[in-house]
Amino acid sequence: MNQDRGQEFKEFQRETYDNLYSDLDFALYKVQHPIRTYFEHEVISLALEGLEGTAEMSCLDVGCGQGVTTYVLSKHFERVIGVDFSSGAIKTAREFLTAMGVSNACVLVGDVDSLCLPDNSVDVVHFKDFLHHTAQPLRAMENLRRVSRQGRIVGAEVNGHSPIMSLFGRIAKHERGLLDSNRKWLTDLALAAGFKAVDIKEFSFYPYPMRIPVIGDRRLAPLLPAVRAVEALLVKTPLRRYANYLIFDASS
Ligand SMILES: C[S@@+](CC[C@H](N)C(=O)[O-])C[C@H]1O[C@@H](n2cnc3c(N)ncnc32)[C@H](O)[C@@H]1O
Repeated sequence: MNQDRGQEFKEFQRETYDNLYSDLDFALYKVQHPIRTYFEHEVISLALEGLEGTAEMSCLDVGCGQGVTTYVLSKHFERVIGVDFSSGAIKTAREFLTAMGVSNACVLVGDVDSLCLPDNSVDVVHFKDFLHHTAQPLRAMENLRRVSRQGRIVGAEVNGHSPIMSLFGRIAKHERGLLDSNRKWLTDLALAAGFKAVDIKEFSFYPYPMRIPVIGDRRLAPLLPAVRAVEALLVKTPLRRYANYLIFDASS
């Protein structure tokens, strides 16, 4: 469990996201394309399902990237702080939050290994698509548990059993960590970090993580009801094992 992917892995992640997330248009695409927008909102709504009273709570969105998750969270929480160790991503996130007119969220450059926030400083921690990018996932979970007043982390992590994600992990070097990421890995990590309970459910079969030109076509919007119906059906079958995301709720 005490995995350490090393300094080189960490620097590679930072450099990758400095480049990958330097583009405001990419962030805007995620909230403008109808099918992608559905995904960005749905994945967070599912993650927050077990939380009550979020409108009066603060939330840390760690590994916030271009601020898309921070933006969606700002619709649910009273106050959101987005943190990411890529200064390029944070620059884009600031521009993105301004473009979206968000006034209850801010973003900061910060590393999960040496968090700039005191213990118990936010109610809840959220992350999406983050843990498999960290060099020391257990240390990340331990640090995050401490900053949450409720000792609670919710969010979505990649499922390495998904054919789409597994292909992505083999093709893209910065995604290699996702090959480790599955229900057992996430549960073991959360328990080792001191959480008492971990609830996990599956979501998503569509290739949302990729910006494939054909799905960037707005004319595909009429397909959304069909996409939703197929996804809702598949998670009720044993095929859920192959879903792209594991929606989790870890509590102390
Ligand atoms: C795949 S992106 C996810 C972005 C966002 N959560 C989303 O789902 O749109 C992973 C992010 O984690 C960040 N990250 C990786 N290791 C980190 C660390 N040690 N501390 C803070 N951020 C980190 C990367 O810079 C990157 O922006």
